[in-house]
Amino acid sequence: MTHYSGRRARLAELLPAHDVEALLVTSAVNVRYLTGLSSSNAAVLVRADGSALLATDNRYIDKTGGLDVPAVEASDVAARLAAPGVGIEAADMSVATFNRLGGLVPLEPLVERLRAVKDEDELELLRTACAISDQAFADVCGAIRPGVTERDVARLLEARMIELGADRPAFDTIVAAGENGAVPHHAPTGRQLRAGDLVTVDFGANYHGYHADMTRTVSIGEPATWQREIYELVAEAQRCGREALAPGAEAWAVDAAARSVIKEAGHGDHFRHGLGHGVGLAIHEEPFLGPSRTGRLEDRVPITVEPGIYLPGRGGVRIEDTLVTREGGPELLTKTSKELLAL
Ligand code: GLY
Ligand code: MN
Ligand code: MN
Repeated sequence: MTHYSGRRARLAELLPAHDVEALLVTSAVNVRYLTGLSSSNAAVLVRADGSALLATDNRYIDKTGGLDVPAVEASDVAARLAAPGVGIEAADMSVATFNRLGGLVPLEPLVERLRAVKDEDELELLRTACAISDQAFADVCGAIRPGVTERDVARLLEARMIELGADRPAFDTIVAAGENGAVPHHAPTGRQLRAGDLVTVDFGANYHGYHADMTRTVSIGEPATWQREIYELVAEAQRCGREALAPGAEAWAVDAAARSVIKEAGHGDHFRHGLGHGVGLAIHEEPFLGPSRTGRLEDRVPITVEPGIYLPGRGGVRIEDTLVTREGGPELLTKTSKELLAL
């Protein structure tokens, strides 16, 4: 059994409980997970008996020859595979398509649940994605200095990751200097780095579809006392979050382990996003860590731990690693030092 047919077999086992004979999978990432085909226009029908049929258009049909699933050519791929009573991914299909096709059964995310736990081959790809990210950061660090812009740093990092073998950046690189560091998802600008800035750099490589995600905050010149204080707090929160990652841990409890450090220091209002998220074929995927997230972590789940403190108008700190839950303690995939670097 290939990885792909094994994954389809596990999906097929879930279908009877949802009273459908088949699931029409339309999410491009889920099609890739179940078949190996990376296509912007494909769907796969997985039946309760484990058999499957893939549809994609003429731009991609040549890529289906080596797959372990039969494929047909169609431009309207969902229509080609749909039939009354078939389950669909409600989170993916548009209302317009759902209404046009008729008779389909909207279902909760099922493939996403399977995707959360990775096999060893997937973990190896993620290790490579993270190693490329670590190396790119080390190589570009020397260029993070006064006078270069946020955009320069982002461009250098992205180019270096590709030179090191990444297929592409895992997401749009964030470089946020000084006051821009107070905006968690700041897009890089022409703002020059200058002495006295904290600079938050959030980036990662995509390697064979798998996404690394890492953030380091560095100081341009010697950090001020307030900068060192929030850095140490975030580092301590991040350490507590990492240590709480274990198979069986509740998602909200891992978040709380890190958040309580920041809250007790009086910065609760300055950390408003969740602690982390799964990574894999998507940059943000199940499971999610946050104050109201339920569910327990399983073994072999790659996940980020990324607390931050954001002070409006002044700046911020975020520290993020990608790790994998393991019995006996998490495996750290992003290995760049978390000491505060003064560049
Ligand atoms: N870079 C996006 C994130 O950390 O989730
Ligand atoms: Mn990130
Ligand atoms: Mn992240």
